[in-house]
Amino acid sequence: MSRSAHPAGPRHADVLHEGHYSAPAADLNLLDEKVWSRTVTRDADGALTVGGMTVARLAEEFGTPAYFLDESDFRARCRAWSDAFGPDADVFYAGKAFLSRAVVRWLKEEGLNLDVCSGGELTTALDAGMPAERIAFHGNNKTVAEIERAVEAGVGRIVLDSFQEIVRVAHIAQRHGVRQRVQIRVTVGVEAHTHEFIATAHEDQKFGIALADGQAAEAVRRALSLDGLDLIGVHSHIGSQIFDMAGFEVSARRVVQLLAEIRDEHGVELPEIDLGGGLGIAYTSEDDPREPHEIAKALSDIVTRECEAAKLRTPRISVEPGRAIVGPTAFTLYEVGTIKPLEGLRTYVSVDGGMSDNIRTALYDAEYSVALVSRTSDAEPMLVRVVGKHCESGDIVVKDAFLPADLAPGDLIAVPATGAYCRSMASNYNHALRPPVVAVRDGEARVIVRRETEEDLLRLDVG
Ligand code: LLP
Repeated sequence: MSRSAHPAGPRHADVLHEGHYSAPAADLNLLDEKVWSRTVTRDADGALTVGGMTVARLAEEFGTPAYFLDESDFRARCRAWSDAFGPDADVFYAGKAFLSRAVVRWLKEEGLNLDVCSGGELTTALDAGMPAERIAFHGNNKTVAEIERAVEAGVGRIVLDSFQEIVRVAHIAQRHGVRQRVQIRVTVGVEAHTHEFIATAHEDQKFGIALADGQAAEAVRRALSLDGLDLIGVHSHIGSQIFDMAGFEVSARRVVQLLAEIRDEHGVELPEIDLGGGLGIAYTSEDDPREPHEIAKALSDIVTRECEAAKLRTPRISVEPGRAIVGPTAFTLYEVGTIKPLEGLRTYVSVDGGMSDNIRTALYDAEYSVALVSRTSDAEPMLVRVVGKHCESGDIVVKDAFLPADLAPGDLIAVPATGAYCRSMASNYNHALRPPVVAVRDGEARVIVRRETEEDLLRLDVG
């Protein structure tokens, strides 16, 4: 079966399971802990609280729409990942999911490393004090200026993505009189999706260097021959929002085979492999993600087994989870504006944000949950579509969900699991003002990315 996914993010539209949300939950007031961050609960009055603060107070202080990020949950997830992989592996948080200076400081404090893929992410990381040697620099088309910057800063690794880049990085490193630590990103012939993986149709995308036709072996040959490069390993990333470990297993097996071929040809055993990110999270109660310790065990078992078979020393493993760390830790809070029942179809609930703060539904047909959070309700469930205030009908935040039938303008509703790829992919469409990210912890809330203002818009527009 051929799908239109690519290794950096499948179009979830193509891989949705059927029958989701066919019936309302028995009690719409219950908050499924699978999809809400860990400190979320309802207080005695029925209002949602996070980090000990009620949404009414948060909305009053910070406005809506806004993303509220549960800091202690974020930190706990960082620790769960690094504990699961242990001291002989490295966890790189993928900054593309969501990056800010506060997040960089939390990562640093919790002992994680950081994967960046642009000059902007690198600047944020360095500015917030992430040691350069704990940064990996990614991207299929890093500019010369970005490579210069990364080499000068002394990043721990640059992940080489093309033959041209091998030469480019070597040249720049030599000019700076350093040997840059690098990995080569290989495309292993696996495209993984939410519920399945396929081992075909992999060459037709822009990332990495194919294992097929000896291309990756040739890239290794060239990298080993250049003085400016210190080739430390091989990198593979097979997709995003993946639940099935089988794709990772195939990928790990093929990467280890390449290490064995490199040993046979060059007499060197590369010390590291990176198996990328891509682990899925629960967006709805139907989703069943793996825990970090299960993932760590599955990956290290397969690598160990394959290395034993190939008589290789087991390399140091690294992984790059983005979504799985930050995704579940935030929700977006909206105020209900208009409510439009369409007889025999569904009720459209319009909120004060939309595709500008969450493009994932429009882009990937992604599924989300939603709950009335300013109060509880005993009213009957009604089938709703939560939409934004933008000028197009594809401006959908939650495609199918149930909310209580007494929902009214002014109620607060929240969409959980919006920590990853929502603020980081937010736009100014219709001159919307991108919402703030507010970190909440132990009864305190603080803005870590402020709301855009109309002045910000005018400042960029130089007239
Ligand atoms: N490492 C590499 C090399 C990547 O390209 C990515 C994601 C990650 C790690 C982190 O993947 P994660 O663990 O977050 O799945 N915008 C899409 C996702 C694009 C993923 C791009 N690469 C979405 O909203 O679903």
